[in-house]
Amino acid sequence: MSSDNKKSARPAMLGAAHTDASEYGENVRNLDMIKRRQKYLGGSILFYHQPVNLVRGEGVWLYDDEGNRYLDCYNNVASVGHCHPHVVDALTSQAKLINTHSRYLHENVIDYAEKLAGLMPGNLDVCMFVCTGTEANELAMRIARTVSGNQGAIVMEASYHGNSTLIDELSTAAHPIASQRPEHLVAVEPPNTYRGPFRKGEHDNLAARYADLVDEAIAELDKRGQGTAAFVCDTIFDTQGSLEAPKDYFTKVYEKVRAAGGLCIADEIQAGLCRTGTWWGFEHYDVVPDIVTLGKPMGDGHPVAAVVTTREIAEKFTSSAVYFNTFAGNPVSAAVGKAVLEVCEGEKLVSNCAEVGRYLRQRLEKLAERHAIIGDVRGQGLFLGIELVHDRKTKQPASDISSMVPDAMKEKGVIMGMTGRYGNILKVRPPLVFSKQNADQVVETLDQVLSELANPAERPGATASSSAQVERVDQGVITERMLEKFAANGCERIQVSPGVVITPLAIDKARSLKIVIERVFIN
Ligand SMILES: Cc1ncc(COP(=O)(O)O)c(C=O)c1O
Repeated sequence: MSSDNKKSARPAMLGAAHTDASEYGENVRNLDMIKRRQKYLGGSILFYHQPVNLVRGEGVWLYDDEGNRYLDCYNNVASVGHCHPHVVDALTSQAKLINTHSRYLHENVIDYAEKLAGLMPGNLDVCMFVCTGTEANELAMRIARTVSGNQGAIVMEASYHGNSTLIDELSTAAHPIASQRPEHLVAVEPPNTYRGPFRKGEHDNLAARYADLVDEAIAELDKRGQGTAAFVCDTIFDTQGSLEAPKDYFTKVYEKVRAAGGLCIADEIQAGLCRTGTWWGFEHYDVVPDIVTLGKPMGDGHPVAAVVTTREIAEKFTSSAVYFNTFAGNPVSAAVGKAVLEVCEGEKLVSNCAEVGRYLRQRLEKLAERHAIIGDVRGQGLFLGIELVHDRKTKQPASDISSMVPDAMKEKGVIMGMTGRYGNILKVRPPLVFSKQNADQVVETLDQVLSELANPAERPGATASSSAQVERVDQGVITERMLEKFAANGCERIQVSPGVVITPLAIDKARSLKIVIERVFIN
């Protein structure tokens, strides 16, 4: 791997993202801002080859500093739409009255907890407020360890759960090498029935086959003396490319985890709040978790997050542990959280997500008939994954194409993301108020973009000579500067692993330097 490739630890799913201002050409807009950002913001990732300076949002629309309008197809935090007036009113009205920490009585936080618990099934009726998804998962793990008396966690491969020390360890997307993970962690293959070890149309009993992998994880944690404290799973499998697990998968896994003395934690930080066409993602699987973690969409942009669990579990935890959080559940945040739930109910967003999501999916499936590069369309409600492959048989990930799609869509006025182990899955996760008309715009724009990008004659390497001097890049981002260095050393061909991001300008540069970029697929 090239020694000047500093982005080696960045997961593929981050896509066309940079942390280094020197990766931008001198002609990029707002270069001064980019440089100041790099100078004063430690390592903060910036999307796009031409980053956008967003100055205003309204509903599903975003506006940049030049007045350009973008359809937001990516942001789940602005869940009920950017700057929803009911939420903004609730926030400003309460902020004008009082905002304090949660050690005083205040109606808002009690009302909010009551309303939230009322939307949960079974005995999930106790809320503990936090500020971020990370904090929610951290607290959930603390509870699970205290209540179970065990230390070990079972998570999915290629997962993301947050950024604290413990939760970063659980985020296997950032730590793909199993031997470098801590003793208290075992990861299992996610139930990816398109590309995983057991596949639709090739194997039977998919739920049981994937669930049985958890038996091995439990045995391994026992062998290490850790025991199983928790099974933690994002119920929409965002970082694995929005998977639909086989129907009985969670029922079977939960049985195994509980039999081992562990607790089942549903990370609903992505799937929660109407998104999948039900209030919570786990409802698709007819299970009731022991602990639910909530975050991102709960405050329509304001930091609101929570752990919801049963009274029995909460009491076992608080009998031996103290939990206090200065900012969480303050009167302003609680007013905002409550207002968001009111909008969800008032605007019938559960059924909107189900209906518009179904429509969008059908249109994308139709689009796949015209574009062979679309290997799979999947997901639930308004959280869809579009997996791009070079060959539907071999399923070779088309990461080279997918890494260019978000930039190309943005240039045509649609904000979209990418995800997955190989970074080859387009992520459609718009605000919950998305309409069928918005869905039409996404599909029509994607149709144009794929027609332009997926034309093999246009890709670098179309005229490669087979005896060219070869360089190899396994991780990170291919930049124009890197290509210039390779060219100066006489390189004519670069072999690139699936997750490596190639920026659009690097593609152009490769063409002008007559360097062939070749994806190397390791199944
Ligand atoms: C599934 C999941 N869990 C947890 C988190 C962490 O949330 P936060 O960034 O609010 O700490 C994220 C963030 O992307 C997430 O996607």
